[in-house]
Amino acid sequence: MDIDLVDQDFYWRNGAPHDQLAWLRANAPVYAHPGDAERGWPGFWAVTKHADVVQVSRRSDLFSSSKKLALFNEVPEEQIALQRMMMLNQDPPEHTRRRSLVNRGFTPRMMGALEGHIRDICHELVDEAKGRGSVDFVRDIAAPLPLYVICELLGAPVEDRDKIFNWSNQMIGAEDPDYAADASDGANAAMEVYAYANALAAERRAQPRQDIVTKLIMPDAAGETLTEEEFDLFVLLLVVAGNETTRNAASGGMLAFFENPEQWRRLVADPGLARTAADEIVRWVAPVNLFRRTATVDTTIGGQEIKADDKVVIFYSSANRDEDVFADPGTFDIGRDPNPHIGFGGGGAHFCLGNHLAKLELRVLFEVLAERLPGLEQTGEARRLRSNFINGIKDLPVSVA
Ligand code: HEM
Repeated sequence: MDIDLVDQDFYWRNGAPHDQLAWLRANAPVYAHPGDAERGWPGFWAVTKHADVVQVSRRSDLFSSSKKLALFNEVPEEQIALQRMMMLNQDPPEHTRRRSLVNRGFTPRMMGALEGHIRDICHELVDEAKGRGSVDFVRDIAAPLPLYVICELLGAPVEDRDKIFNWSNQMIGAEDPDYAADASDGANAAMEVYAYANALAAERRAQPRQDIVTKLIMPDAAGETLTEEEFDLFVLLLVVAGNETTRNAASGGMLAFFENPEQWRRLVADPGLARTAADEIVRWVAPVNLFRRTATVDTTIGGQEIKADDKVVIFYSSANRDEDVFADPGTFDIGRDPNPHIGFGGGGAHFCLGNHLAKLELRVLFEVLAERLPGLEQTGEARRLRSNFINGIKDLPVSVA
């Protein structure tokens, strides 16, 4: 079989290359993927089995997050420098300190306290959609929900929402012509978010509030605190990591319901299923397609020898459909329980900080949709994001009548 797991245009047209990934799981689970000298990225090991992705994720001593940052595409130098400073691209012990400082703001209890607010936002979005009859599910429901939640977390004023929305699109969609003219747009947007965060923190220092920003800029019990720069970088990470991912989970989940109408009928009959549906959506969509690591020493993955400095790419979209872990992995089943998917990462130091929040948003959204818009229908073609990193949907026209 022809294997190309990088081709952005393929993702643009079809979504994740599930046929190729299934073939690799069966025939070459740790596959030496060729590089592309012309486009300037080297070969890498494509890791496609659940157990191997978990192993790589949990051993940050063997598989570094801080080396060789660019995935496959050329990233401007200034953006690499910025990325290198973010928690996501650091290894313990540097990563550990920051992570424990930001964990304070994201406990399940703190996220749970947002439920009422999230429900209000979902009802507002549904009210607006009902008033119009036909809407774009991405633009009008899936995108505003996580954006409004992040703005709420940051205490950003309502009038700044559009600005933050555009920045996050430009950062993540730098490869998609609808969002960013070229990669430098992404870098510029990142700088804008960085400056925005800086101003926000200055405001809270002057006038502390009962909010997460204030909590994060204050010292913890041991007197440790995020530096100004660390805080600004964290906000930058949050805007990308907490926005696009949840948006794409929601829109990818809605599309999965359109493609599996019996699952939608199940949910409408029993909206309580939204709890297990949230996990199944993240398994099915794998909004983050992959991440890369770099081997720190000569080692093995699934019996395959890997040399120090080799690049290793872990495919969550593949691990989430591993036949050894999931019964009928190609079936979208909203009652699936247990559901050991690794759409939020394979465990270990970088496991998604926002997983409780994301699941809460998805659960509440689909509960509200099933209750209030049982007749939702797709009225046009779903258009995908041109990205091999994010499994995203840009447009999903629907009728809510
Ligand atoms: C990390 C997925 C929502 C914040 C990650 C990772 C994945 C991921 C795969 C990397 C894990 C690893 O390398 O082991 C997702 C998905 C989401 C989602 C699929 C939605 C369905 C969110 C939300 C937030 C968030 C809502 C914040 C509000 C973060 C942060 C990191 C992260 C800060 C970096 C953690 C670290 O480096 O220690 N996420 N995420 N994510 N996520 Fe999420």
